[in-house]
Amino acid sequence: MSAIGFEILFGSLTVTGSLMAFGKLSEYIKSAPITYKGQNFINILTFLTAVGMFIYLIFFPENSMVFYAMIALSLLVGIFIVIPIGGADMPVVISLMNSYAGLAAAATGFAIGNKVLIIAGALDGASGFILSIIMSKAMNRSFTNVLFGAVGATQADSSGLAEARPINRVGIEDTKFILEQADRVVVVPGYGMAVAQAQHIVRELSDELEKRKIKVEFGIHPVAGRMPGHMNVLLAEANISYDQLLEMETINPTMDTVDVCIVIGANDVVNPAARTDKSSPIYGMPIIDVDKAKTVIVMKRSMATGFAGIENPLFYEPNTKMLFGDAKKVMQELVAEFKK
Ligand code: TAP
Repeated sequence: MSAIGFEILFGSLTVTGSLMAFGKLSEYIKSAPITYKGQNFINILTFLTAVGMFIYLIFFPENSMVFYAMIALSLLVGIFIVIPIGGADMPVVISLMNSYAGLAAAATGFAIGNKVLIIAGALDGASGFILSIIMSKAMNRSFTNVLFGAVGATQADSSGLAEARPINRVGIEDTKFILEQADRVVVVPGYGMAVAQAQHIVRELSDELEKRKIKVEFGIHPVAGRMPGHMNVLLAEANISYDQLLEMETINPTMDTVDVCIVIGANDVVNPAARTDKSSPIYGMPIIDVDKAKTVIVMKRSMATGFAGIENPLFYEPNTKMLFGDAKKVMQELVAEFKK
């Protein structure tokens, strides 16, 4: 009964919790945190009541009504714990749900005496949990803050930077010219590259540059995109050599020797406010220091903010040039310019 109870508790909350995460990511339900007064208290009370029923059932397993009530409460717990978490934090939640599913599977293994299920479930449970913690750390958020902070909603920026300061725009031809003069180019991809599916054309650009004896490397931020390893997966799919991918810790100390840094659809992970502005919501999050490169070309569609919903002072730096457009389309035009 202990094993079955544990399986039901975690299995049920995983089902509804995952559905909530799916709904938030697909925007079927409000992606922003849904909060109300006394929410944490109600959540804890519901969970503890379900746990209480679980313990009761261990001693009185014949009471089937309590069993069904426990299932219902566990299903509710899944909904309750996910709705106050912002859509942006869903990858952490999904990873945690994955972990719960593993634990539930391990418990089922005990219930039906299946060792493979126990081992596989335990591995899944542990790895999902470790991954959730790694993701929270990389976003400079505590794990408890993600789960109970009811944050993750985009924050409106009030700095007025967008209107107050001019930016340097650049076109395709000039970008080509700037790149041709470089000895070392670093590409920093982000969520926008994933959305545009620009990884293949980025590889073509890298090939064109290398033909001209320009060294090309990729700076990979651990939380660029929307899931761990997102950029690594995309770039591997485009057959970009693994040796060219440098982790943030490796690339940062050499950033001031980079001639041109091309930021493709990345925003928060290159936001220098994380280093300099104590009032910034992302203050303290490690970033790729692209602003230290001699020239930075930022490729995105507009001045819109990224996931964190905050302004990026990088766009207004004198050494930054904005190349506006869809990452794939702009890259195609740039590669065509090189091939001309
Ligand atoms: P973001 O800060 O989200 O910025 C992405 C940028 O891409 C946007 O500013 C957007 O600007 C641009 N973009 C969107 N579609 C585009 C397109 N088709 N072509 C060109 N540009 C496009 O991305 P990031 O820098 O990768 O940072 C990731 C963020 O997600 C971090 O805040 C991180 O904490 C968070 N997060 C990550 C994870 C994991 S595990 N990776 C999990 C949860 C949260 P425009 O609209 O102007 O084009």
